[in-house]
Amino acid sequence: MSIPRYVGQPDWYTSFNPQTLAATGTTLRWGVVATGNIAKTVTADLALLEDATLQAVSSRSADSAVAFAEQFGFHTSYYDGGPDGLGAPGYVQLVADPDIDVVYIATPHASHYDIAKAALEAGKHVLCEKALTITAAETRSLIALARAKKLFLMEAVWARFVPGFQRALEIITSGEIGDIKWVRADLGFPAPEDDTARIWAPADGGGALLDISVYPLLWAWACLGRPDAVSATGELTALGVDSQNTLTLTYDSGAQAQLISYLTSHGPRTATISGSKGYIETVGSVNNPKGLRICVGWENERNETFDYPGSGYTYQLREVTRCIQDGLSESTTMALDDSLAIMELFDEARRQMGISYPNDSRTDL
Ligand SMILES: NC(=O)c1ccc[n+]([C@@H]2O[C@H](COP(=O)([O-])OP(=O)(O)OC[C@H]3O[C@@H](n4cnc5c(N)ncnc54)[C@H](OP(=O)(O)O)[C@@H]3O)[C@@H](O)[C@H]2O)c1
Repeated sequence: MSIPRYVGQPDWYTSFNPQTLAATGTTLRWGVVATGNIAKTVTADLALLEDATLQAVSSRSADSAVAFAEQFGFHTSYYDGGPDGLGAPGYVQLVADPDIDVVYIATPHASHYDIAKAALEAGKHVLCEKALTITAAETRSLIALARAKKLFLMEAVWARFVPGFQRALEIITSGEIGDIKWVRADLGFPAPEDDTARIWAPADGGGALLDISVYPLLWAWACLGRPDAVSATGELTALGVDSQNTLTLTYDSGAQAQLISYLTSHGPRTATISGSKGYIETVGSVNNPKGLRICVGWENERNETFDYPGSGYTYQLREVTRCIQDGLSESTTMALDDSLAIMELFDEARRQMGISYPNDSRTDL
């Protein structure tokens, strides 16, 4: 069975090894846009890499920028309206900083396109949080810009790089569980009810689809590839974003996947991959499983567990570093064509569920 993954993958992708943190070449100078939850978590992991310099952070507010810079030891902080006093947004000042090589964007989805575009136009490499953009049209435009400028661009789907996911692909590729016939995966949590929170706000691209579905989808995509058809159903809030959704993927081969994402309930947050000879279940959340249960036939069952440095984001950060150090403009593990195909699938899922966002009507792409 052939599964898309990058050839020559080093051992440290499948087991914790201090090499993940060790320098592999020129030190990269990072700029971080935003000071929210994921910016903090990823920056803490970035600080573990021996060839990363925390160069600058930007925020909409001076207090947040300065506090974040002090907390993590950034050399410079930028904020809307200052410190240059010219009134430019913080991220515009950050991308213009000649001492930054790569920009990590950790703002809500609806702002990703404008910030990534500004960074690419300023000649910076970009790692941008998921969802890469709100629409496939925005993603298509960003990819064209990155390729034209020969700059690195990657959607920060960290789950693609963590040991539990990589090991599952290794087992599947070996043929141990046979041909994959179906995949089931779910992820979610009960998010606090607050219409202004980015996770619920239409203007921020709120809802389970853009926030959560990339993770369950990752398992189906890696095991079975791009589906031949998708059927999407969801429950919508009064503001018109999905509080939960189910994506059913079908393949001409006969294979199927059922993927559930939710923002109002608890769930196992696991994936099951079913093959003709056996199956794999994740132990722990699908975005970073701490273990795998592998069952072959009716009798043989074993468990494998994984450890990792920090919060598990170092693997994607190492991949970004490796690619830029090697002069590559994209990762073959989290490929831009996959990001685009996934956004196209999300566009179609939104059409079926009746979800629209302000970014749908932009005409400047
Ligand atoms: N990879 C992962 O595991 C993971 C986990 C969670 C979230 N995410 C992704 O990361 C992104 C941010 O999520 P989060 O949970 O960190 O959100 P968050 O806690 O709300 O933080 C987002 C930050 O972005 C800035 N911001 C807010 N509204 C903005 C706007 N309209 N325009 C520009 N900047 C704005 C704010 O920082 P300042 O006040 O400093 O400007 C805010 O603190 C989302 O796209 C999400 O999908 C990824």
